[in-house]
Amino acid sequence: MPLVELVNVTKRFGKITALNRINLSVEDGEYLCILGPTGAGKTTLLRLIAGLLEPDEGEIYIDGRKVNKVPPEERNAVYMFQNYALFPHMNVWGNVSFGPIIKEWDQKRINDVTSEVLEMVRLGERKNAYPHELSGGMQQRVALARGIASGARILLLDEPFGALDARLRVNLRTQLKSLVKDQRLTAIHVTHDQEEALMVSDRIAILRGGRIEQVGSPQEIYTNPKSIFTISFVGGANFFEGVVSRVNKFGSEIELRGGLRIHVSDRSRNVGERVVVAVRREHISLGKSRRRGFNNLLGEIEDVMFVGGSMEYMIKLENDMTLFSRTLLKGSSTPLRRGEIVIISFHPGECRVFEYPRRGLLKEIEAI
Ligand SMILES: Nc1ncnc2c1ncn2[C@@H]1O[C@H](COP(=O)(O)OP(=O)(O)O)[C@@H](O)[C@H]1O
Ligand SMILES: [Mg+2]
Repeated sequence: MPLVELVNVTKRFGKITALNRINLSVEDGEYLCILGPTGAGKTTLLRLIAGLLEPDEGEIYIDGRKVNKVPPEERNAVYMFQNYALFPHMNVWGNVSFGPIIKEWDQKRINDVTSEVLEMVRLGERKNAYPHELSGGMQQRVALARGIASGARILLLDEPFGALDARLRVNLRTQLKSLVKDQRLTAIHVTHDQEEALMVSDRIAILRGGRIEQVGSPQEIYTNPKSIFTISFVGGANFFEGVVSRVNKFGSEIELRGGLRIHVSDRSRNVGERVVVAVRREHISLGKSRRRGFNNLLGEIEDVMFVGGSMEYMIKLENDMTLFSRTLLKGSSTPLRRGEIVIISFHPGECRVFEYPRRGLLKEIEAI
């Protein structure tokens, strides 16, 4: 039995449908990320699970029990919002023991739980500090400790690292994940940051315009994206617009603008169909000679960008299309230069073919 289950959940605000028939299950002990752009309905989803909002349609179950009408404090879930709010006039100990005190536990139990949870987030030594005396990351951990001390087994994390600087964010991600796993908690973590979601999740649910677009492990989402939206939002890709000009037992041929033709292994489309072919940047290689069995196109390097350990090239094709290629920077290799003419190669098996979107390719990608 899943720990949290949403069945056909719809939530509207006036004329806006913030969530549209959502079906989602979260297993006990799982770390699930809800990934989506701003306005997708992520916060609304968490607030529904927390009990801060009620669905217009559908059911929410926690531990098999229907909770549509159950108040937040009886749901075993704690909602941690974007800008974690600690009580500024209370020290760390006061903040963390707040929940247990409200629940009128006996003094020994309050003390035991509070110290245990403070050890868990490694803040035992700072129990007398006030929030303003702590770093952003420590405040975050106090907020987390407060949630756990109140007995919550389900952490609902709304962009939990939004306010922190990049390096701290990366450290806290892994710490939070180990904490959830060590303590056998369950986390539903909302983020618009694809890298964060790929790094920490057991599973990712892609949310867009109030609907779930795809659910899967980070690897599944990355290697088998089911839509143009998912591939462009998670990892990004080059997109070729074209028409299927031939299909045979090896694959299909797609005719692009300006008469260029490429081959794809996909054979699921019909001749004459309008399609979009997506190729990841890292699957496009640049060289001086043609590669057998690959698509080979001619292009000119327009821009060279250094991105961490790799080089990213912007290339213009003969038909004026712009492509991006990313290659790992190796010690011995000299980067290509702007203005150089190169052969662009990519394998038919690395090409993903999608139906041409009704509202146009740009709109489909821009919705991010
Ligand atoms: N209380 C509210 N009243 C009216 N509209 C709301 C309210 N909360 C959210 N919305 C709308 O619902 C949609 C989803 O919002 P939200 O869940 O906050 O998205 P996200 O957290 O993914 O950015 C947006 O169009 C937003 O404007
Ligand atoms: Mg939000």
